[in-house]
Amino acid sequence: MNKKHVILTVFGTRPEAIKMAPLIKALFASGEFTTKVCVTAQHREMLDQVLDIFDINPDYDLNIMKKGQTLAGITKLVLENIEKVLDHLKPDMVLVHGDTTTTFAASLAAFYAKIPVGHVEAGLRTFDKYFPYPEEINRKLTACIADIHFAPTSSNYNNLVNEGIDPEAIHITGNTAIDALKTTVLNDYRFKDALLRELDFSGKRVIAVTAHRRENLGEPLIDICNALKKIAKCYSDVEIVYPVHLNPAVQKPVKDILGNIPRIHLINPIQVQDMHNLMSRSYLVLTDSGGLQEEAPALGKPVLVLRNETERPEAVKAGTVKVIGTNCEKVVSETAALLDNEDDYQKMAHSVNPYGDGRASERIVAALRYRFRLTENKPEPFKQASY
Ligand code: UD1
Ligand code: UDP
Repeated sequence: MNKKHVILTVFGTRPEAIKMAPLIKALFASGEFTTKVCVTAQHREMLDQVLDIFDINPDYDLNIMKKGQTLAGITKLVLENIEKVLDHLKPDMVLVHGDTTTTFAASLAAFYAKIPVGHVEAGLRTFDKYFPYPEEINRKLTACIADIHFAPTSSNYNNLVNEGIDPEAIHITGNTAIDALKTTVLNDYRFKDALLRELDFSGKRVIAVTAHRRENLGEPLIDICNALKKIAKCYSDVEIVYPVHLNPAVQKPVKDILGNIPRIHLINPIQVQDMHNLMSRSYLVLTDSGGLQEEAPALGKPVLVLRNETERPEAVKAGTVKVIGTNCEKVVSETAALLDNEDDYQKMAHSVNPYGDGRASERIVAALRYRFRLTENKPEPFKQASY
């Protein structure tokens, strides 16, 4: 029997782990590859939470996280440490995900070692190099290096083709975020977090909030917090739940402004099932996260995006997501419109799935089988419903 091809998945942060977990499971389940996992641990606690839940035991852990790490620091440590892993394992392909600094640095290291790179969640663009920062450029640089591109949607595919990527090297797969979501949301779900267990989801309107992105640190995050404070003050039937990212540059302003405000609940990062079920029981989501912009529309929840632009225009087009920026008055007025006007709310509150159908991992495994000539059949692309 021929030796199996060795696939090394590399990731380092919470969202990468959540979105790579279903793919890792699918690779193991196929039995056709030798699947290995390397975590850079660009995140530590927030990564370990996900590894625990999905029962993933990394073969390599670079353990690079430092408090207040810089972009150059992360890049340097990933490059230096992963070189040894690649040299030891000699994989046939390295799979990376998305747009983090782990993604870019691991791709570069694989390129230096002349190992082919597969890019999961490829082709998302805002075309603005500083929004999101540094993710837009991380994702573009990874596309330059990658040999096979897994684009979630047809518009992501078009972005790559327009940049000169060979269409034959691109597969439209849907987003693995939706694969993960299919396994976590349950009607009778019991929250692990004590506060969420006690929250009155049927009697109150719960707003789920996350905000942590680098481009929002400083003034924009302060504006967001002040807006949340006003909303909580004006609406006695609203409860705001904000799991706060562990970055000290997020923790400090958020706790300084929003600590001890009635109806605002600041909690530690929660496990992914808690987060998905929190969104599914919430009235509305306010966020600057990329992942939440994909998940909440599938759950039929309106999303107000606390950014100036998005690399995920599909749900905006479908009408369930609105990009509102971070200006305090604007955040208050857009939120108030959805709290006060049932028609406006209902227009946004319908479930759409422009990002996937829960079969993205299956398509990626099929594309890898095609790439390694284990089959002659190219997988059928994911097709979005029209909205
Ligand atoms: C990173 C990614 C971003 C992604 C986000 C998801 C880059 C440049 N940024 O941003 O694309 O959206 O993850 O959350 O790749 N920290 C902890 N424990 C943890 C995680 C973080 O203490 O488990 C603290 C550390 O002090 C760390 C800081 O948060 O230095 C920032 O983490 P970092 O990965 O550099 O940036 P993020 O803003 O999390
Ligand atoms: N998430 C989570 N716990 C939290 C906050 C978010 O599990 O306390 C999940 C969320 O459902 C999504 C992912 O983490 O799947 C998003 O991660 P993050 O916001 O850190 O990164 P981004 O999406 O902005 O890259």
